[in-house]
Amino acid sequence: MVKTLIPSPHQILITMTSKPTVVTCGLPYTNGLCHLGHLRTYIPGDFYVRYLRHLGDDIVFICGSDNHGTPIVVTAEAEHTTPRAVSEFYHAHFAEVFEEMGICFDRFGMTDDPANHERTISIVKTLIERGYIYKKTIQQSYCPSCSRYLPDRYVEGACPHCGKHARGDECDQGCGRHLEPGEIQDPVCATCGTKAELREQKHYYFRLSEFRNYLLEYLPTLGGTISARNYALGWVKNELKDWCITRMMNWGVAFPAPGQDDLVTYVWVDAPIGYISFTEEWAKASGNSWQKYWCEGDRVHFIGSDIIYHHCVFWPAMLYSAGYQPPSAVVASGMVTIDGQKFSKSRGNVVWTREDYLEKGLPADYLRYYLLSYTNHTRDLDFSWKEFATRINNELVNTFGNFANRSMTLVRTKFSEVPNVPVEQSIFDEIAKTLASVEMEVRSFEFKAAVDGILLLAGFGNSYISNAAPWKLAKEETQTAARVLKNSLQIVKACALLIQPVMPESAQRLWAMLGYTDAVADHPIADAMVPFENTTLGDVKPLFVRIEDGQREELEATLAKRAVGAQNKATERSTMETEIEPFSAEMVTIDDVAKLDLRVGLVVKAETVPKTEKLLRLQVDVGKEVRQIVSSIARDYTPEEMVGKKIVVIVNLKPAKFRGEESNGMLFAAGEPASLLIPLRDVKPGTRVH
Ligand code: 2FM
Ligand code: ZN
Repeated sequence: MVKTLIPSPHQILITMTSKPTVVTCGLPYTNGLCHLGHLRTYIPGDFYVRYLRHLGDDIVFICGSDNHGTPIVVTAEAEHTTPRAVSEFYHAHFAEVFEEMGICFDRFGMTDDPANHERTISIVKTLIERGYIYKKTIQQSYCPSCSRYLPDRYVEGACPHCGKHARGDECDQGCGRHLEPGEIQDPVCATCGTKAELREQKHYYFRLSEFRNYLLEYLPTLGGTISARNYALGWVKNELKDWCITRMMNWGVAFPAPGQDDLVTYVWVDAPIGYISFTEEWAKASGNSWQKYWCEGDRVHFIGSDIIYHHCVFWPAMLYSAGYQPPSAVVASGMVTIDGQKFSKSRGNVVWTREDYLEKGLPADYLRYYLLSYTNHTRDLDFSWKEFATRINNELVNTFGNFANRSMTLVRTKFSEVPNVPVEQSIFDEIAKTLASVEMEVRSFEFKAAVDGILLLAGFGNSYISNAAPWKLAKEETQTAARVLKNSLQIVKACALLIQPVMPESAQRLWAMLGYTDAVADHPIADAMVPFENTTLGDVKPLFVRIEDGQREELEATLAKRAVGAQNKATERSTMETEIEPFSAEMVTIDDVAKLDLRVGLVVKAETVPKTEKLLRLQVDVGKEVRQIVSSIARDYTPEEMVGKKIVVIVNLKPAKFRGEESNGMLFAAGEPASLLIPLRDVKPGTRVH
């Protein structure tokens, strides 16, 4: 996407229209609800599209739901329904939530719809005709107890590359590598836990290894985030195996080889082809050409970093071999952590978009702002309600909103009309500087820097109005006050236009307050340099509302409750399997209990004790001092998980040694696997437990 920048009469750099571009976001699987992890990719994608459209680029924004693959069949089996019904339910959920979050795709399709079956079959047939696909006999896992083959998520075992526990086609808890059928070590059936046997099956393979040289030439030219390009190059340089593209199932796109009714294409074949077929559907409905984007133009994929391999290795090879253009850019986002802990649905460490956010009455724009401005796109993003509230209150309410509201309210109270004085050149210079830098950051996928640049302009306006204090000038130096306020309104106008791709709903309200009756999204960003022309303002109201402490505490409590709920469920499951020990026959008095000095401790450091499997050596802040405590919880908690945890500790226990390591205290945990006892509310280290 090479751009030419030319100066306009207002000294702003205007971009020439770029090539037609299709922007896509990774397709969500239809077997779960939308959560914050999804939004980490879709909101930047939507922001990028909105911004470039604001600059006049020709963009089509495509997404859809990913309906095939074993996880959806597993869900349907568990719910005694069909994979199609499961898919339709979650498809509708995603479509609605995206709309509520202001994520506006031109087409949100389904990979199980006819257009995608047809396009997949046509591409696979081309690959067969061109000799890129061959048949091979492989050893596939088979469960003798369930009497079925075990493709992908139906099988679990150890990763052949890193040894970690892996599921089916992906080492999701270790090195993240894609696993081919039959590669998983010590396979067991994921449904019933029976040790799997290996049986022969015939499958079709794509000659991926033949595309090594092509990929080695192509990848250095791939735009987007450096992370995507470099990971992919590393993998391709290392080894490139042929790719099994069929599965023995009856849910998916029928594999188009004669006499192979038992095979469907692997989900990672037809899912990315969805990007093309959904563009076709959009083009058909709107009278456009899909080829303009897929055979010419640019293709930009927004994805999570866990699917770089699929988008930078399989997908370009498949497109190239079938005669389509490969991706121009792959933009890979970092993952999400919650309160510094790994995002985990099973552990309850998750923020659901609808239940935990939208249904609490929180504006979509706040979350859009947080996700875009928190950190660089490729870094992991931590979400905490505390940080969320702080940023909204400081940056949106106190800076952006305060500046806009002050400027407009002063015009309304001190002048009957918008003062008819010119805007100073220095103000246009400041705006022009912002427009140029924000555009550069957006085009470089530096979304945080782009949003920071917009907030900087609001901050500039805020300081400008504070220093000039037009409320003091209004009586005696009316002309100066008029000039300051007109300058401020110009900056507010620029801010409304610039912030639209970040917070579309708030930008529209601000636009109306400025007295405009049309849609801010329909204005080119360059209008920020057009002198503010309205003579009267609209109805001026506070743009943003603070998040109060009480509301934040409630949001935090919901998250904590969910984590406890998940923990309880896990314990319930484990206690159902183990016997409940009989209660102790020996009674104790309250005085006996009082002898135990129990305190809240904060784990500040945690390491495994070398050459042991069970022991963790913890440094625990117990208020007055940091104590070393050795505990046998290493199988159930990693050192990273322990750091930052508040736990319950007995501090008057006689010191003891474990494997040569001194332990000054003991922590409390229940059950097997061990579940730590932790305070539910925030309490200072050293606080007595009573
Ligand atoms: O990893 C996932 O969630 C997949 N459903 C993404 C598919 S993206 C594309 F290739 F279709
Ligand atoms: Zn691995």
